[in-house]
Amino acid sequence: TLASPPGPLEDPSAKLVNDPAHPFIAPGPNDIRGPCPGLNTLANHGYLPRNGIASPSEIVSAAQEGFNMGNDIAVFVTYAAHLVDGNLLTDLLSIGGKTPETGPDPPAPAIVGGLDTHAVFEGDASTTRGDAFFGDNHSFNESLFDELTAFSNEFGAGSYNLSVAAEFRFQRIQDSIATNPNFSFISPRYYTAYAESVFPIAFFVDGRITDTLTLDMTVARGFFQDGHMPDNFFRSNISWGLTEIGGGIDIIFTPHPIEPGANAGALDSYTLDPNSADFTDFCKLYTDFVNITVRGLYPNATGALLGALNQNLDFFFGPLQSRGCTQVPAFV
Ligand code: HEM
Ligand code: MG
Repeated sequence: TLASPPGPLEDPSAKLVNDPAHPFIAPGPNDIRGPCPGLNTLANHGYLPRNGIASPSEIVSAAQEGFNMGNDIAVFVTYAAHLVDGNLLTDLLSIGGKTPETGPDPPAPAIVGGLDTHAVFEGDASTTRGDAFFGDNHSFNESLFDELTAFSNEFGAGSYNLSVAAEFRFQRIQDSIATNPNFSFISPRYYTAYAESVFPIAFFVDGRITDTLTLDMTVARGFFQDGHMPDNFFRSNISWGLTEIGGGIDIIFTPHPIEPGANAGALDSYTLDPNSADFTDFCKLYTDFVNITVRGLYPNATGALLGALNQNLDFFFGPLQSRGCTQVPAFV
C-alpha cells in the first residue's frame, strides 16, 4: 500500500524559503526539468530531489512548504499528473521528460512519460512555453516571455497582475487559434491553462507583500526561466487552495470568456466542444479525467498495477469529497 498524501501545513504563515538549507543550485546535465516553473524551482532549491524524479507525496510536501500551495489543489494536481505521467508501481514521477529512472514501465497504452507528455496534462497556449505542435512544449521560450513583458507594460504598469493575466491568457489562446492547426483547449487543459495564469500571482510574489498582488518581471523571469527564487524570498502568507485559485480564475476568465474547443485541423477553425467540462461543472473535470483520460491509459490493469491505480484514484478524489462530487467507482 502507498503512503497517503501529506495533510496541510501546520503553520501556513509566510517564511523565508530561499534559506541556507535550500540554496539554488542549477540543474546538472543529468537532472530533469520540465514545463512547470514551480516544480523546476522546488527541485533547484532542494525541496524536491534535485534529479527531478519524485513521489507524489514529496511533490505535495514541497509545493506546500516552498510556496504555500493549499493542500486541496496540491493533492489534486499532483495526483492528476501522477496518474497520467507517473509510474504507479514505483510511485515515481519525472517533472520533465520520459526516463528509465522512474523504473520499468507498465504495458502500453500507459505512457509514463513525465510532465512533458503532451495532451494528458500538459497542453497548449502555455504562458512561457510553446505548443507541442511547434516542437518544444517544455523549455522556456524567450519570445513568449518578451510578449508577456510587453503585456505587463501595457496592462500592469510593468508588473504581472490579474489584469495582465486576463489579457495574456486571451492572447495566448488567440495566438494558438491563429497559428496551430492542432490547437486543443478542452478539459483538463482548459482548467489548467487558467489556473496557471493565476499561479505566478499566488506563488511567485513575496509573502511579505500583502497589500497588492503584483509580480515584478525580473522576479518572474527568475522563476520562469531559471527556476530561481530571489534572494531572501518568503513564501506566500496564505495557503492558496482551490477556492482562492478559483477566485483568480474568475477574474481572468470574465473579461474574455472562451468556451472549451479545438481547431479542426486548420488555422482559425476553432470549434466549440460541448462535451468538454467547463467552469460550470467542476465535478465533470474529475469524472472525465478518470473515465476518459486515465481509463484510456489503463484499460485493463490487473494485480498490483490495478491496486496502485485505485489507491491513486482515491487520493485524487480526496479534495473533491467536500465539494459535492461523487466518486467514480474503483476500476475492476
Ligand atoms: C505549468 C504541473 C505545482 C506554477 C505546469 C505544467 C505542468 C505542471 C504539467 C505544464 C502545463 C502547460 O503549461 O502546458 C504541476 C504539478 C504541480 C505543480 C504536478 C504539483 C503541485 C506548481 C506550483 C507552481 C506552479 C507550486 C508555482 C509555484 C506553474 C506555472 C505554469 C505551470 C506558472 C505555467 C508555465 C508556463 O506556461 O509558462 N505545471 N505544477 N506549478 N505551473 Fe505547475
Ligand atoms: Mg503547455
